Amino acid sequence: MNKVFLLSAAGTSYGKTDLTGRDLSMLASKHAIERAGIKSQDIQAAFIANAFGMAEKQGHLGPLLMSSLGIPHAPSSTIEAACCSGGSAIREAYINVASGFYDVILVAGTEKISHLDTLTATTYFSYGGDYCFEGNSGASFPGLYATMARSHMHEYGTTEEELAAVAVKNHDNGFLNDKAHFQKRITIDDVLKSAVVADPLKLYDSCPFSDGAAAAIIASEEFMDKNNLQKRVSIKGSGRSGGSGSLHTRKDMTSLESTIRASREALKHANINIKDIDFAEVHDCFTIAEIIAMEDLGIFEKGEAGKAVVEGRTKINGDIPINPSGGLKSKGHPVGATGVGQVVEVFEQLTRNSKKRQVEDARIGLTHNVGATGGSCAVHIFEGE
Ligand SMILES: CC(C)(COP(=O)(O)OP(=O)(O)OC[C@H]1O[C@@H](n2cnc3c(N)ncnc32)[C@H](O)[C@@H]1OP(=O)(O)O)[C@@H](O)C(=O)NCCC(=O)NCCS
Repeated sequence: MNKVFLLSAAGTSYGKTDLTGRDLSMLASKHAIERAGIKSQDIQAAFIANAFGMAEKQGHLGPLLMSSLGIPHAPSSTIEAACCSGGSAIREAYINVASGFYDVILVAGTEKISHLDTLTATTYFSYGGDYCFEGNSGASFPGLYATMARSHMHEYGTTEEELAAVAVKNHDNGFLNDKAHFQKRITIDDVLKSAVVADPLKLYDSCPFSDGAAAAIIASEEFMDKNNLQKRVSIKGSGRSGGSGSLHTRKDMTSLESTIRASREALKHANINIKDIDFAEVHDCFTIAEIIAMEDLGIFEKGEAGKAVVEGRTKINGDIPINPSGGLKSKGHPVGATGVGQVVEVFEQLTRNSKKRQVEDARIGLTHNVGATGGSCAVHIFEGE
């Protein structure tokens, strides 16, 4: 396989906006192209990560985006894998460039959801899980992740305070990120006293509904060399796995098999050990999700991640910083954009552009993106050159 580079990445602010998903994808893409130092015409194909375009009455975003970039001939496809749409689109771009089929691919993730009320948005989101047997019976994502949280508490003694510590740490990081949905610090007490969403998960254990977009340019070594482009970040490993699309059929609700499989594939591909990574952006749609992710990735032993968060080991200046961007919890979760936004954070970190949230000596970063309750997972490993 050919060596693949992350030539550039850029994103819009996350939060609520009057812009459409289409507008947002254009802004992020134009910024990424400009940062890459290439012309739109260099882009040969695009993958658009978008889960709920139909909620805006707009599917098939690709040709609209390509036309606004002045390259209507460029082929584009929408990638939909619920909350893992972004990571899946990065994976497709990686495979296309590694195989030598294309040299330059644009990945644009976008979502607009804030025009929907909470019930409507929650219903749309549940279409990404097992709607027939779970969503339709009222088991929406907060309820499903609450079930996982209760299982984890039962099996490993994980506490509500440990969950709260994840939210506090991610809000501390998001406070330093001027593009985050929430830029405010919170305390353990704030989390514990916030409104219960699905017991034991509360308002501050949950990610918000966000609008936003992110874009990345994936390029071959040959293209970089031919155009004298600086090789700053390479993609060392790519892993992608499916998992059970339903939660209620699983024997173990304290772990996501798709994370285990995708991360082992990515690590093997990169020929490194999980201990070699300097930081990770993981899928913390709810606080319990970050704890389960760290354990499934192998960063901590099963049942140990909650304690590690309380000890401060996952802070920006800790021994393994997790979600320096603020994560889904504080930076926000514009579904289609999320996995690409994680790549934007890795690009900023590895090019030493993260200002106050810069992870010292960051050289290897990992992204972990999950769809629904683990029906899809994508893991990528990046190295600063
Ligand atoms: C947690 C949740 C239920 C809150 O929705 P809500 O009760 O309708 O909240 P509102 O939009 O009315 O906002 C009420 C307040 O809480 C804040 N808020 C909303 N969601 C928040 C969150 N997740 N974290 C922190 N604050 C939040 C709002 O900013 C607002 O603050 P303000 O009154 O100071 O302006 C909703 O954000 C949610 O369902 N999140 C999970 C989304 C999800 O399932 N994603 C997929 C994961 S797999």
